Amino acid sequence: MTETLTPDPQGLARAARLLSAGGLVAFPTETVYGLGGDARSDSAVACIFAAKGRPRFNPLIVHVGDLEMARTIAVFDDCAERLAAAFWPGPLTLVLPLAASASLSPLVTADLPSVAVRVPAHPVARSLLAVFGHPIAAPSANRSGRVSPTRAEHVREELRCRIAAIVEGGACGVGLESTIIGLTGEPALLRPGGLPAEAVEACIGRALVRSLPGEVPTAPGQLASHYAPAAAVRLDATAPEAGEFWIGFGAAAASADLNLSPGGDLIEAAANLFHFLREADRRARSGIAVSPIPDTGLGRAINDRLRRAAAPRPPG
Ligand code: TXA
Ligand code: MG
Repeated sequence: MTETLTPDPQGLARAARLLSAGGLVAFPTETVYGLGGDARSDSAVACIFAAKGRPRFNPLIVHVGDLEMARTIAVFDDCAERLAAAFWPGPLTLVLPLAASASLSPLVTADLPSVAVRVPAHPVARSLLAVFGHPIAAPSANRSGRVSPTRAEHVREELRCRIAAIVEGGACGVGLESTIIGLTGEPALLRPGGLPAEAVEACIGRALVRSLPGEVPTAPGQLASHYAPAAAVRLDATAPEAGEFWIGFGAAAASADLNLSPGGDLIEAAANLFHFLREADRRARSGIAVSPIPDTGLGRAINDRLRRAAAPRPPG
């Protein structure tokens, strides 16, 4: 059952306890309702993807209560400082280099060296972040492929029984997702949204690089800087070949070097995936073999990521 919580001190304390226990809590922001989970927890973030039914591990936006918390996860340059001072709290997300000290789940960033961060303005979101005290990963609280929810009822229709709780907060004022600005290279408009791009340009005193529709890198594999193992990856392996490091799945892979989920749980497998790929890359002598993963539920996102890891690399 999904609890309905009122945005009073008791309701927010309950929401924070559920988040601390790894549960998912939908909450209002000024843009749209977010589907929140502890951004430090691999299993909470894996559950976000499972609840949304996303076929890919797109990187998620990390919500923080203030600039101080933002600095614990991301590196701010002059441009980022200026935009944060002008528009936070508000409907602006900045993609910044991930701070070395950030202890986020690699699923949140899709294992990228950057992180999308925003300080929401909605009083309920701000209170929840203050009570919880840690970064909250939150995509829009809809099933994959549906429109973003701007009222608690929309969230309930789509995610009832799939999440621990919904914090009520009325209708969202902006009703459009946040504007995403990439600051890991030339300042770029990655997603138009609630804050006009012109306001961003006026603030930083220069034009934004605007990708053409279809060029926006949303999936991790499309991002040039995305981490790919150096070792060759072989999929659907029921046993390792000589020298291969074997990442198994399920009971059939009892002798694997690492097992994504001995009990065959896809949420557990997703939570382990990026950690295991990195460890396999460190330890592999000749390559990495990966067990077959069922192509259902989160298995689709796992297989998408594995296919990208196994794809031939562009030269250089
Ligand atoms: O208004 C909003 O932004 C809402 C509310 C809940 O805050 N959140 C939202 O989150 O729309 P989400 O997870 O649905 O949007 C994430 C977007 C994706 O399109 C993703 O490509 C981009 O942010 N993104 C996240 N991290 C990124 C990164 N490191 N590099 C490039 N793009 C990134
Ligand atoms: Mg969305």
